[in-house]
Amino acid sequence: MATQISPASGRDTFVGRAMSRVDGPAKVTGLAKYAGEFAAPNLAHGYVVSSAITKGRITAIDAAAAEAVPGVFKVITHENRPSIAGEAEAYQDMVAPPGAPFRALYDETIAFSGQPVALVVAEDFDTARYAASLVRVSYEAETPHTDLEAQAGSSYDPPEKRDGIKPPPEPWGDAGSAFDGAAIKVSQQYRIAHEHHNPMEPHASTVVVEDDGTYTVYDKIQGVANSQLYLTNAFGLKPEQVRCLSPYMGGGFGCGLRPQYQLFLAMLAAQDLNRSVRVVLTRDQMWSFTYRPGAVQTVSLGADTSGNLQAIRHDALHGTSQYEDYQENIVNWSGILYGCDNVELTYRLAKLDTATPGDMRAPGAVTGVFALETAMDELAYATRIDPIQLRIANYTDTDPVEEKPFGSKALKACFRQGAERFGWSKRNPEPRSMRDGKELVGWGMACGIWEALMMESSAKVTLTADGRLEVGNSTGDIGTGTYTILTQIAADALGLPMEHVTTKLGDTDLAKAPVAGGSWTAASSGTAVMKACRDVAEQAFKLARGLEGSPLANVDFERVVFSKGRIEVAGDPAKSVVLTDVMRQTGTETLEATGSASPDKDFAKQYEAYTHSAVFAEVKIDEELGIVRVTRVVSAIAAGKILNTKTARSQILGAVVMGIGSALHEESMLDHRLGRFMNRNLGEYHVPANADIHDIDVIFVDEEDKANPLGVKGVGEIGIVGTAAAISNAVFHATGKRIRDLPITVDKIL
Ligand code: MOS
Repeated sequence: MATQISPASGRDTFVGRAMSRVDGPAKVTGLAKYAGEFAAPNLAHGYVVSSAITKGRITAIDAAAAEAVPGVFKVITHENRPSIAGEAEAYQDMVAPPGAPFRALYDETIAFSGQPVALVVAEDFDTARYAASLVRVSYEAETPHTDLEAQAGSSYDPPEKRDGIKPPPEPWGDAGSAFDGAAIKVSQQYRIAHEHHNPMEPHASTVVVEDDGTYTVYDKIQGVANSQLYLTNAFGLKPEQVRCLSPYMGGGFGCGLRPQYQLFLAMLAAQDLNRSVRVVLTRDQMWSFTYRPGAVQTVSLGADTSGNLQAIRHDALHGTSQYEDYQENIVNWSGILYGCDNVELTYRLAKLDTATPGDMRAPGAVTGVFALETAMDELAYATRIDPIQLRIANYTDTDPVEEKPFGSKALKACFRQGAERFGWSKRNPEPRSMRDGKELVGWGMACGIWEALMMESSAKVTLTADGRLEVGNSTGDIGTGTYTILTQIAADALGLPMEHVTTKLGDTDLAKAPVAGGSWTAASSGTAVMKACRDVAEQAFKLARGLEGSPLANVDFERVVFSKGRIEVAGDPAKSVVLTDVMRQTGTETLEATGSASPDKDFAKQYEAYTHSAVFAEVKIDEELGIVRVTRVVSAIAAGKILNTKTARSQILGAVVMGIGSALHEESMLDHRLGRFMNRNLGEYHVPANADIHDIDVIFVDEEDKANPLGVKGVGEIGIVGTAAAISNAVFHATGKRIRDLPITVDKIL
C-alpha cells in the first residue's frame, strides 16, 4: 500500500488528519521572525531609489544633498559601487528563464520602470528614506513599449526553452480542417490582465557580517539554496561563506522563487561598508519586478452535435522583458485535459519594456485553463449539453500528448461529489433564469488541472536519547504547512508524539532541498523525511533486537511498528521495547540518517501525474450597480493522499480566494505613455477582502496514486486553476453576457 507509512492498524497516527500548524503559536505571538526583522549590531538600513523613467539611461546622479544628511553612510550608485561580476551569466539563479538576468546598479542603462538606480544606506530606515528623496537623478529617456497587443507583430517563438517548462507539443491530426468541418464551432479571444503577487510581507533581506568575515543572510525567498547560489556567483563567494536563512515567509505565491534585487543590494552595501545591512522594499517597489504576465489567447473548439470535440486550437501570446525570455505553460493543458484527435497548440512571446514576468501561483494554468474552460462553457451552450456532461463526453484517462495513462485521475468523482454538494441538478441552464430578489443568480463550473511534480530533495533526522527527533530540510514553508506535514510524517514513522518532533526549515546549513514551488514540496521533502526516518527506525530496531532477552530477537524489521514511543511486533503489542530504553541501555546518544528522494523513473515511464479539480461557483449580480458577488464556491479536488486535511483545505481556500481576485479584481494597469504600472498599492490594486468572500466549500475526493511512497500529489496550486472560468461561466449564466476579459469589473458588466 503506497499510502501506508507503518503497517500498524488501530494506533494513533497523524498523517491524514486535520492538524493545526506546529508553527502557528510562533506566528501569532510574533516569535516567528521574517527576513526584515532580524537585527545585528550596528545594523545599517538601505533604501532603494527607483528610476523615474522606464527606458533610457542615467546621465547624472547628484547625491551630495543625501550624503550630507546626518546618519547617512553612503549613497551607492553604478558610478561608485564596489566591483561585482561583469558577466550576466553570474547572476543566474535556479529558476531563471533563458537570457541575461538583471544586474542592479551595473551601469547607466534603464530597462524598466522602478529599476533601482541608487541605494541610500543610513543608520536607520527613516533617515535612509528621507535622504533617498534628496537624490537627484538626470535621465535621457526613450519611448517605452509596454502594450502587448501593439507588440504582437514582433512576437517570436522562445529561442531557447526554459528549464522545466515543456514547449507546446507538435500538433496532431489536422486541427484546421477538422475545425472548418465541425458542426458546432466556438472561436474566441480571451484576455487576462497583468497581476502582481502582493504577498502581505514585502521583499526584504538582512545581510549580517559575522566576526569571521562570513555572511549570515536572512532573505525572503522560497528556497534558501537559490539565494546562496545567486550570491556566491554574483559576488564570487564560496558557499561556506554565505549561510542563507528564510525560516518564515509572509506569503510568496511565486514572487519569492527568484532572488530579487534587494538581496543583491544588501550584500553589495554590506561588502562596501563592511557592516550588516538590511534592505526592505516598499509596497510600491513590489511593482518593480516579477508579475503574472497578461496574455491574449485564442481558443477554437469544433465539435459534433453530441459535443464530441473534433478540433482544439489554442494560441497564446504574453510579454517578457527585453533581457529574459520568461516562459510558462499556458496552452499545453488544452492538449491534456480532453481527448481529441486534432489539436494545435501555439505559444509566442513579445518583448516589452518591463521587468521580467515570473511564476505566480499555477503559472500558465491560471491563464490557459481560464480560456479553455470558458470556451468549453460556450461550447456547452452551443451544443445545448450540460457543462458536466460535455466534459464527461470528452473525458480521457490517457494523456493524449505522452500517450500514457494517468497514474490516477479521480476527476469524475470530483464532478459527482462537487455537483451533489453544490446542488447542480437544480440549475436551469437558461441564462437570466435564476434570481434572488433583485439580484441575478448564476451558476457556473469549470475544471482545473495542474502537474503533480516531484524534485530531488534530502532530509536529515536525528533521534536523541530522550526520544526527541529533529528533522532538517532546507526548503521553505511559504505558509503552506510544510513544518506541520513533515512533523506528522516523522512522528508517524517513529511512533513519537508530535511535540517530540522539531522540524527545521529554510536554512542552507540543513539538508539540501529544492525551492518551495510547483506544488512539489510535500511529495519531495515529505518522501525524503520518510526515508530518513525509516533509516533511523531500522538502526533503532537493530539495537533493540540485540538487547539481552529482547522480545524482538527473532523478528524482522518489516514485522515491527513504531508506536507510542515503543518498537513492537505488529499485532502483538505485548512483544515490545521502549525506544528510549533502547537508546539508554545501548549507551546511544543519537541516531541519525539522511534520506534522499527523487522522482520514480519507473513510474514516470508508465504514467503521467496530474491533479484535477471541478470548481462550481454561484454569483449574485446587482445589474443596476454591475456588482458581482461570488456567494458560493465548491471546489472538489483530486490530489492523491491528503496529508493534513486542515492545512490542505487552507491551501485550497486561499487559492480559491486568489482565483476570485483574478476573476473579479486583480489588474496591474500600465500607462503605456509612461510604461509604468500605475496602481501600485493595495488601495488601487484590490485583492479580495473579507467582504468579497462568502461560502467556500472544499472536497477532497479519494484518490490513490503511486508516483511516490506517500501517494501525495500536492495541493498548493490546483485550487486556483479553473476558478476564474467557473466564475466567468456563472456570470454568463446570470446575465447572458459573455465576458472573456479578466478581471470582470463593473464596467464590463454594465
Ligand atoms: Mo509557485 S508560482 O511555484 O511558488
